[in-house]
Amino acid sequence: LTLILLLFFTIHFSPNVPSRCLLLELLDVSASELLLYSSHQGCSMWMIQHCARDVLEALAFLHHEGYVHADLKPRNILWSAENECFKLIDFGLSFKEGNQDEKYIQTDRYRAPEAELQNCLAQAGLQSDTECTSAVDLWSLGIILLEMFSGMKLKHTVRSQEWKANSSAIIDHIFASKAVVNAAIPAYHLRDLMKSMLHDDPSRRIPAEMALCSAFFSIPFAPHIEDLVMLPTPVLRLLNVLDDDYLENEEEYEDVVQGVKEECQKYGPVVSLLVPKENPGRGQVFVEYANAGDSKAAQKLLTGRMFDGKFVVATFYPLSAYKRGYLYQTLL
Ligand SMILES: *[C@@H]1O[C@H](CO)[C@@H](O)[C@H](O)[C@H]1NC(C)=O
Repeated sequence: LTLILLLFFTIHFSPNVPSRCLLLELLDVSASELLLYSSHQGCSMWMIQHCARDVLEALAFLHHEGYVHADLKPRNILWSAENECFKLIDFGLSFKEGNQDEKYIQTDRYRAPEAELQNCLAQAGLQSDTECTSAVDLWSLGIILLEMFSGMKLKHTVRSQEWKANSSAIIDHIFASKAVVNAAIPAYHLRDLMKSMLHDDPSRRIPAEMALCSAFFSIPFAPHIEDLVMLPTPVLRLLNVLDDDYLENEEEYEDVVQGVKEECQKYGPVVSLLVPKENPGRGQVFVEYANAGDSKAAQKLLTGRMFDGKFVVATFYPLSAYKRGYLYQTLL
């Protein structure tokens, strides 16, 4: 359970009795859990791109302000259903660049080489003459993305002699062994982006702001159905509800849409409802709720329900795409 502090304020319910209030956002699944669910297959390109972009935007802001997060890892990247993005949490080890007082930074698997060296020196009671910079965060993100892509834990790989001799060759190898993903998807943009984050020399590592300009971010990936089950949003998509017969008969269509709407309203106010009669999205039901809490409740309770003799499949759907009228052709 992770909460993010949004606001801190004081309310005076009665004179002289101030109540201190914290407004917290309840976040959803972490990148660590997503890695677990995806098991050895790795995450979809859509999810990797979403995660990379959101975290890079957070880092670009943080680094611009002169701060280093210093503990970037999958557990500290969480999905916000309400804002439909990944958020960066836990600033317990963060420091202002140039004022690094804590010498033990980052978490084992995601620690940059220069931070590793600094840790070792500190353990031996020695002072290191160099300070860590924002480049340590880019290293961590590079490892996280490589884990999401490969579905493998890379601790031993990164510590191996082979990695030290030529990390670029190892990354090439990981990509080559995953070429089966989909030949049409140009994965080399992602590969090059990871390489630019995983230089041993921190001064050669790409800054967050520049990484955001990578060609990888201009590829329009579509989410997998697993992504739409794992990442809640305020929009619910119901599959296996309407038969072709309903779509062709205007009266029956209206009736069934009304019925579905009534059912969906049991879980919270419905802002809009869409049932396309043509592809893309023919026969699917899109339900926009006022807030993600309601769509999450609906998803849980509607999945597996019988409707007209068929089992309903309920996934979420990106609100941003829905609002643009963009219906992905995701396959079951
Ligand atoms: C690392 O391996 C690549 C092949 O993937 C090769 O082109 C490159 O020259 C190697 N670099 C070094 C420093 O050995």
